[in-house]
Amino acid sequence: MQNSVVVTGGCGFIGSHFVRLLRTARPDWRVVNLDKLTYAGNLANLTDIGESGHYRFVHGDIVDSDLINGVVRDEQPWGIVNFAAESHVDRSILDPAPFLRTNVLGAQVLLDAVRQGGIKRFVQISTDEVYGDVQTPPDEEATLRPSSPYAASKGAADLLALSYHRTYGIPILIARSANNYGPHQFPEKLIPLMIRNALAGEILPVYGDGAQVRDWLFVGDNCTAILQVLEHGRLGAVYNVGAGEHRPNIDVVRAICRLVAEETRVDPQALLARIQSVPDRPGHDRRYVMDSSRIRAELGWTPATPFQDGLRTTIRWYLEHQDWTERVTSGDYRAYYEAVYRRNWGAHG
Ligand code: NAD
Ligand code: DAU
Repeated sequence: MQNSVVVTGGCGFIGSHFVRLLRTARPDWRVVNLDKLTYAGNLANLTDIGESGHYRFVHGDIVDSDLINGVVRDEQPWGIVNFAAESHVDRSILDPAPFLRTNVLGAQVLLDAVRQGGIKRFVQISTDEVYGDVQTPPDEEATLRPSSPYAASKGAADLLALSYHRTYGIPILIARSANNYGPHQFPEKLIPLMIRNALAGEILPVYGDGAQVRDWLFVGDNCTAILQVLEHGRLGAVYNVGAGEHRPNIDVVRAICRLVAEETRVDPQALLARIQSVPDRPGHDRRYVMDSSRIRAELGWTPATPFQDGLRTTIRWYLEHQDWTERVTSGDYRAYYEAVYRRNWGAHG
């Protein structure tokens, strides 16, 4: 029956929005959220979703095959959506090991669980970073050329999923999305980090010349795309999910300054003056952009949120939830920040 889904990594940024979307858009489905609660996983992202016959939280690791096989045996899910990952490029430069463990071995454990039979749809959540630095927008058949250990680990998981489909005939789908932004994103990523630093009176550190281009996709739009892929995607297919909102980083940071200034009634020049160029990320990709015509043509998906609207919504959320930011940046955050922003890539961990 199409009424039970296991979501891994559902306490992270995108996963928590997806769990909430399932609970509201598919209220009769049972959602099992399995999450290790790493630094990026936060039960506070889902305080509005209580345990019930329709929702269960399992604290656990996707690499733990006994746990995964037990959950699959008990729940007999119709589908699995795998968000669980180490997700930050800079952390993968500091230490690739956890990326290979969770993003590759974890994917293998889940794929082996799907091989046991019964599961009808397995969606691997992937990224435009697997294509690497591009000028011409790659479609889904383009060669993978990952640049960072993070991107390589995500590409490896995609290839593993595709190989399991071909070899064992298991029902996999892959969604490769562009840079997400929105509420609940951990402030190590560009947009929430800049909002946090703007509010905290700190510098706004732009890597290199700031001319690197990303395509900014509002998290709610990514979640509707993933739901479409889960329910209606072609088995074995890959779907690129881009917003068509390409912008150089420096423009994004300036837009954040202007909107934060407007929302907090401070002088925008005071914020703009805090933008500082810092040494670049090693291996930094200059440009991500994808051809997303397949998901639009086959599944009828289009993004609904223009960048300016999504950015304002995001800034308002961070302004209203400064306690959330304070909580998630206590503990290890400062040590991480020092290691990355001193560009001392061997010093952390
Ligand atoms: P995130 O870092 O915010 O959340 C990751 C979640 O996975 C956390 O809740 C964490 O506790 C959990 N997790 C980590 N290791 C685990 C393990 N071994 N077992 C179980 N749970 C584990 O990440 P995000 O930004 O929400 O990204 C979610 C997925 O989307 C990832 O697969 C990422 O590669 C992909 N993605 C992200 C973006 C983006 O812009 N954020 C874009 C494209 C693709
Ligand atoms: O493209 C999809 C990917 O987007 C996802 O797969 C990753 O999980 C996600 O982390 C994100 O990766 P990026 O490396 O593109 O995102 P990040 O927010 O780290 O950086 C965005 C751009 O901003 C990038 O060019 C680096 C730059 N940057 C980032 C930070 C944190 C800065 O200039 N300064 C910063 O302080």
